[in-house]
Amino acid sequence: MTGMKVLGIESSCDETGVAVYDTALNGPAALRAHAVYSQIALHAQYGGVVPELASRDHVRKTLPLIRQTLEEAGIGVDQIDAVAYTAGPGLVGALLVGAGVARSLAWALEVPAIGVHHMEGHLLAPLMDADPPQPPFVALLVSGGHTQLVAVERIGQYRLLGETLDDAAGEAFDKTAKLMGLPYPGGPQLAALAEAGTPGTYRFARPMTDRPGLDFSFSGLKTQVLLAWRDSDQSAQTRADIARGFEDAVVDTLVIKCARALDAAGCDTLIVAGGVGANKRLREKLQAMAQQRGGRVCFPPPALCTDNGAMIAFAGALRLQAGQHNADEAIAVTPRWDMGTLPAV
Ligand code: KG4
Ligand code: ZN
Repeated sequence: MTGMKVLGIESSCDETGVAVYDTALNGPAALRAHAVYSQIALHAQYGGVVPELASRDHVRKTLPLIRQTLEEAGIGVDQIDAVAYTAGPGLVGALLVGAGVARSLAWALEVPAIGVHHMEGHLLAPLMDADPPQPPFVALLVSGGHTQLVAVERIGQYRLLGETLDDAAGEAFDKTAKLMGLPYPGGPQLAALAEAGTPGTYRFARPMTDRPGLDFSFSGLKTQVLLAWRDSDQSAQTRADIARGFEDAVVDTLVIKCARALDAAGCDTLIVAGGVGANKRLREKLQAMAQQRGGRVCFPPPALCTDNGAMIAFAGALRLQAGQHNADEAIAVTPRWDMGTLPAV
């Protein structure tokens, strides 16, 4: 098959994402359409994601989003050549909604279906660029559930260099925001607040950077912020100053470890993905680090850093083009799934 229009469906957590990726086109144009429905408002009152409510909302939103996306792409459902969906890791009920719709659609259309690893989707998202980087490179995956440094020798072959021992970077943002009274998910709001903060007013540790190694630990930072916030005047300016101090600590830590990971892997190309990859200061500081080394750093556009269907359609397309797809018709998901076990493309 020369060109393939792949429908991608993401439903692993609190976002329903749908996209059409057309392999006959290149760069951003290949993304014919994509739409994301976020459940943030639904979960905000509970201070975090309620899995059962997430599943039920995916049930409500998946089919309307598919209709909307196909309309935007200007194609009929009968023109879909394959269906890619997130098979894991994630919330089992939420995953099953996307898998059920995707597999049923593929079965009815008699086209292949492929279950995609959510973190591989994130990792490959920067490659939708007009001038995509070629492996080998190092990937920094920073989302609400993961913080990983991965060496990529070739697409599909992922060697874990380091990861968080406790909270993920996004989780640290969210928890820190919460303890200063910001609504869930506080990451982006904390980052916005930090803009108004004075750098250096609060200085927090850069955890685990004083010893060798590529692992992270972010849970102690939260306690440092809690103590600083509790002992402060809790004014709006103080909150912004603390937000700035926290953001600088996380960003510096990530930048230091990324430089180390590039050294360890012996390459100078870094790709960044996952929700925290949308963070402006992280993008700036990684850019400066890469420039200093004479290397390159690649990010997806901010909208493709957080959960979306485009990354699933794209990752699925790469595997389908390599002849990989799920042979049986079972609606199966893998809520816990080690990316290191994936086959090469
Ligand atoms: O990748 P993602 O959408 O979902 C997961 O797979 O986890 O990442 C969501 C995470 C949340 O923790 C959110 O607070 C964080 O990414 N995030 C940010 C920013 N935008 C999203 N953290 C810091 N700065 C941002 N601009
Ligand atoms: Zn994600």
